[in-house]
Amino acid sequence: MEKKNRKLQTPRGTSDILPDDQVYWEWVKKIAIETASIFGHSRIDTPMFEDTSLFLRTVGEGTDIVEKEMYTFQDRGKDSLTLRPEGTAPVARAYIEHGMHSLPQPVKFYYITPIFRYERPQAGRFRQHWQFGIETIGDDSSQLDSEVIHLLWTFLLKTGISGIRLLINSIGDDNCRPEYLRLLKSHYETKLDDLCAECKVRFNKNPLRLLDCKQEGCQLTKATSPKILDYLCHECETHFERVKETLTLWNIPYTVTPELVRGLDYYTKTVFEIHPGSEGSQTALGAGGRYDGLIEKIGGKPTPAVGFGSGIERIILTLKSLNFIPEEQKLSKDSIYIAYIGIPAYEKMLSVINHLRNSGITVYASTKPRSLKAQLRSANNSSAARTLIIGEDELSSNKGKLLDMQSNITTEIPLDNLVELLTLNT
Ligand code: HAM
Repeated sequence: MEKKNRKLQTPRGTSDILPDDQVYWEWVKKIAIETASIFGHSRIDTPMFEDTSLFLRTVGEGTDIVEKEMYTFQDRGKDSLTLRPEGTAPVARAYIEHGMHSLPQPVKFYYITPIFRYERPQAGRFRQHWQFGIETIGDDSSQLDSEVIHLLWTFLLKTGISGIRLLINSIGDDNCRPEYLRLLKSHYETKLDDLCAECKVRFNKNPLRLLDCKQEGCQLTKATSPKILDYLCHECETHFERVKETLTLWNIPYTVTPELVRGLDYYTKTVFEIHPGSEGSQTALGAGGRYDGLIEKIGGKPTPAVGFGSGIERIILTLKSLNFIPEEQKLSKDSIYIAYIGIPAYEKMLSVINHLRNSGITVYASTKPRSLKAQLRSANNSSAARTLIIGEDELSSNKGKLLDMQSNITTEIPLDNLVELLTLNT
């Protein structure tokens, strides 16, 4: 039963993006679009929800996302649908559905989209977050792994974040990983009693994720476990060496992190994360990797691919912690505040507003009679570059007073051909 007087507010783990914060959002999205374009990526938008089976088959049934975090519902036609818990599978589905394998390969996409995960909310971890994502589909070259990392690196630096750290690893492929997992399990098998409850489940369901455990009691077992990098097959090893060589050539510093594994099952070979300079628990600003088996898993031809997702809220939180203020919203020279004194001037103002807005000029004005002082205060708080003042004297001379908000200089301006004069004067 719904409580009658329950205060209505944003659902847990979500937030409103208020007007004052929009400058950060616009900034980060602008840099994302610019960087994606420089690297030759085109925008793709997929539906907010997909058939649930798309995520079961790609993200993986033993993962936290599928087991605990998906917003899944049945629609009125009894189809099971899921709000997008990540961006890669939908793009892969679109690639197959629209026959994009017949385009010149690779096909390079980017997206900026909300993602929904029923997580335990905490700093930088939300139930709805936005991701800037990149997917490069149809080419197995190691150069593309480095390129995608380079893109994420460039993007983060361009937003204004400094001191970022890149962690990379290779988790092998179907050829070498099964043998590694066998060794990993036999290492853990004798220590099962000492493991945390979650690791006991991981041991059976998703042993690679044992390496992701942060619990104190599991650290020794983890530290002494076999390292995947020692068990890569020749192809995976060569691929990883080339990724590192190219990163070095491009002056991108990295730390090889053998325990870096990801929370999604579709990765093969290279995986990576970029963190801000300061340490923290949930800090990846962006993460991704290669996923050569995913397209085939959902009915496409075997098609290699690589990409990343980067959380926009986390970037904004980091920018704020660095006291970074995006390029100030510039006063639009084409914007004007109209202040009026008296009823006749009010009527004149209404027709002036209409005329200016129809000509594409941004207009601010008071909606009720207020003192000139109060109107000038509002004008100062708006982003108008100039204020046009109309009172009785101005009406009789048919000339308004035009106040430049920055220089504070007032000039006279005929009220008849305002649009021409205002645009001439910008
Ligand atoms: P992911 O690591 O789950 O990967 O998410 C990518 C990024 O999204 C994270 O590094 C983080 O910046 C942000 N993020 C994730 N969860 C949250 C959350 N609950 N609240 C705030 N930010 C969050 C993927 O989703 C893959 N689809 C990435 C990918 C693309 N791999 C290949 N292509």
